[in-house]
Amino acid sequence: MGKMEIKRLTPAIGAEINGLDLSEPLTNNAWDSIQDAFLKHQVLVFRDQNLSAEAMVSLARRFGPIGSYPFLKSLDGHPEITEVIKEADEKINFGGLWHTDTSYLEQPPLGSLLYAREVPPMGGDTLFANMYLAYGTLSPALQDWLRGLKVVNRSDKAAAAATRVEQIGRIGAKQGARPVYEAIHPLIRTHPVTGRPSLYAHIGHSVRFDGMTEEESAPMLDYLFQHQIKSEFQCRIAWRPGTLTVWDNRCTLHNAMNDYHGHRRHMWRITIDGDRPK
Ligand code: SIN
Repeated sequence: MGKMEIKRLTPAIGAEINGLDLSEPLTNNAWDSIQDAFLKHQVLVFRDQNLSAEAMVSLARRFGPIGSYPFLKSLDGHPEITEVIKEADEKINFGGLWHTDTSYLEQPPLGSLLYAREVPPMGGDTLFANMYLAYGTLSPALQDWLRGLKVVNRSDKAAAAATRVEQIGRIGAKQGARPVYEAIHPLIRTHPVTGRPSLYAHIGHSVRFDGMTEEESAPMLDYLFQHQIKSEFQCRIAWRPGTLTVWDNRCTLHNAMNDYHGHRRHMWRITIDGDRPK
């Protein structure tokens, strides 16, 4: 491939990187540029890749140790990869609501890689939103107040739990998965590398503020859930077979569109281990 080029997707978030063949080992210079772009743009898109499972795993390892998704059996022979599939006759898609991955874990993933194997002729895009901006655009008095709060995140919040049901039914549950995972994290987390604050709650898993009831928490959480997905914080990825997207779960949310009933969509997903949010 030719020279590496980085093209921003929107003023808020996301960049497309062209000119790299990710099936080949990356030079140190190319890797440094990817890392810089990852921290700066939060979501990176690589088009027209031809990745074997092994190549995807070795690329993922450059971002850090590989994590595992607690609920789903992994791809046969490749314990690092979770398949995300919606069959043509299924109605519910995996991850079809605004969320950051598995924030109900004590140490949620640093980031995720998603590689498109088969996509519908139209639809099935993924939306991303910038949580630095979501926090940074609140008024200073509200920012100060929110900084003192912690959020309870649970895996069994109904809408998110529903998006796993068909996957688990078809692919099989992971052995040893607990019925429910719960973790309490700061509402405003500080990115461990950039040092920037971001809003770390979302409609997918966040149920209440620590020390408050769901009823007491709901008005402010509902406000934040609306605020954080403003169009001007977003970019939208239209997939093609061979598109790889990598996102930073510490400062973004994403939402998989479910607008392609009657068509199959098949992705490979890998998560990278993260630290405990602070
Ligand atoms: C996910 O939430 O990890 C899946 C996103 C997608 O399929 O676009």
